Amino acid sequence: MFDSLVERPADAIIALMEMAKADASPKKIDLGVGVYKTDDGATPIMRAVKQAEGLYLTEEQTKSYVSTIGNADFRKHMVDLIFGVDYPALTEGRIASAQSTGGSGALRIGAELIKSSGKEPIVWVPTPTWANHTPLIGSVGLEIKSYPYYNRETLGVDYVDMLDHLKANAKPGDVIVLHGCCHNPTGADLNSAQWDRVAEFMRDQELVPFIDLAYFGLGDGLTKDTYGLRKVGETCPEVILAASCSKNFGLYKERVGLVAAITTSPDQARLVQGQFGALQRRLTSMPPDHGAAVVARILGDAALRQVWLEELTEMRGRIKDLRKDLSNALRVQGAEAMAAAIIDQNGMFSTLPLSVAQVHVLRAEHSVYMTNSGRINIAGANSHNIPALAEAILAVL
Ligand code: LMR
Repeated sequence: MFDSLVERPADAIIALMEMAKADASPKKIDLGVGVYKTDDGATPIMRAVKQAEGLYLTEEQTKSYVSTIGNADFRKHMVDLIFGVDYPALTEGRIASAQSTGGSGALRIGAELIKSSGKEPIVWVPTPTWANHTPLIGSVGLEIKSYPYYNRETLGVDYVDMLDHLKANAKPGDVIVLHGCCHNPTGADLNSAQWDRVAEFMRDQELVPFIDLAYFGLGDGLTKDTYGLRKVGETCPEVILAASCSKNFGLYKERVGLVAAITTSPDQARLVQGQFGALQRRLTSMPPDHGAAVVARILGDAALRQVWLEELTEMRGRIKDLRKDLSNALRVQGAEAMAAAIIDQNGMFSTLPLSVAQVHVLRAEHSVYMTNSGRINIAGANSHNIPALAEAILAVL
């Protein structure tokens, strides 16, 4: 059986992560995989998480199965956190949700839900998008197409082209993947006025938004980072959401996420919720509980929640400071546009206007690791490495 298998191409981000790990150079600057790092380059466990884990260790009574839709407290707290307790679709009982195995699990269940509808819509993803969107969503057998999003000349969102392209090519019922905030890989986000327009456009064109909310809390704060999702959910009848706790709770390896759907009625929400459970059962049976129990403990305890909010604010502030420092270090003749874009962009990533050849020189000669597209994880920069990083980037320009 195995002799018929062929080598699969390596995932770009995972391969880069391994390459950076293997480089023992003391001057190494790893701007690859999207994990938050402190000024010393460490990814420590958040204080709120450590405290919640300590409490949970003594409180936990059983390791028995939870459920195919996961931890109920986790789901409730996450839905309240993301949408707000007064959100109309929530108070009207029109939101279905399930805990998922990370944001990727949420994307997969969302894609399975789309496939289960039997309607065979095309799923549209932005150009560029997270490297795993197409393999992950496409693996359920859905057709994927791309719409213009990031303009590598202006280093901003190609908003007019995006809507024109979708208007000309997407048909009613098609699904549009949108990054809720902190666009991965570019950091170029829609502003509030653009979200308002996109929401109306989706409604008028009868398109279904599928929002990937992997980095909320790390852009402009929890409220602003969820603005687009909430706007779209108030405007369009049906919305699918994939949210992650990997980054904002630093729970990467615990694999905690939430898939949710805004539906048109409580009956439909019950139906979708049942689908979520059945789909998860078919995929992995049940999601792991530890991370979800920790998130539920933090969000359900006023003191722990406060600790978490303060840490998240610190992390977000640090990312913004790093953007300023890197931008200042790059503000020389020939790199002004790049320096300005780094400030304008949002969240953990920016995509620098570098060619693949320049990225390879950065890797080979300067031990600076970023994806071939020029995506950098801003949190991989720090006060010690920014001068060398800026010098290396300017050297390859
Ligand atoms: C990233 O984009 O670097 C993260 O979302 C990690 C991953 O799995 O790709």
